[in-house]
Amino acid sequence: MSSGIRSAFRLLGFLFAFVALAPSATAAGAAIGADGKIAISDRTFDCISKLQSVRGFYVGNLLGDMQATLAVAQSKNGGVYPVGSVIQLVPTEVMVKQPKGFNAATKDWEFFELDVSKSGTKIAKRGFVEVVNRFGGNCFGCHIKARPEWDLVCETGHGCDPIPLTPAMFKALQNTDPRCPNSGKVSAEDAKALQALAALSAPPPIPAKPVVAE
Ligand code: HEC
Repeated sequence: MSSGIRSAFRLLGFLFAFVALAPSATAAGAAIGADGKIAISDRTFDCISKLQSVRGFYVGNLLGDMQATLAVAQSKNGGVYPVGSVIQLVPTEVMVKQPKGFNAATKDWEFFELDVSKSGTKIAKRGFVEVVNRFGGNCFGCHIKARPEWDLVCETGHGCDPIPLTPAMFKALQNTDPRCPNSGKVSAEDAKALQALAALSAPPPIPAKPVVAE
């Protein structure tokens, strides 16, 4: 092999190593900052389906510890999610596991409400027990009802009060996350589920005022 080709191979090897080490936007895109907290910004979050699907929801790990997150998510008996775990069911709501001791009440989960659009993510609200979603619901108030072995993760049957959304509605919201490629192509099935969801969240019709004769 000529030395020219050898050095070209060395360069390729170097480039591949670099690509492999570069953190991906969602799977391992953060580190623990000087304040002891995982540094999270708008750019931490991306298209929901870039995370790993488990049953009906998605998981990731911001510190790259995906195996440990998956092990708890797939366990039949629950467990404590490892630091860095990210969980999403719908594009606009996220739970992230901060380092131990960060907030005992929320078992170190930080709650996020996101604004999502084609141009990306904006964190609308973040915090611990006080975060309220756009429908006026307190994340913690609902999620704390999960039995202790489920680490504040509700799913179905973990002890939280059920929410009136069907699996088809969750799927439609995931498939139409505007940050994902092809989110504009809505299947007939998803369109139907989104319509049903809109009907569910529409305010009740205002009764017509009785006409009073003069
Ligand atoms: C009215 C109660 C309620 C409120 C308020 C609420 N959630 Fe949930 N959440 C649930 C239930 C119930 C599920 C499980 C739904 C299912 O799988 O059928 C869920 C699912 C989730 C999941 C998927 C993992 C899991 O626990 O099943 C995440 C992540 C999540 N919610 C985050 C949030 C965040 C963040 C907020 C606030 C911005 C929030 N939720 C507000 C009840 C609530």
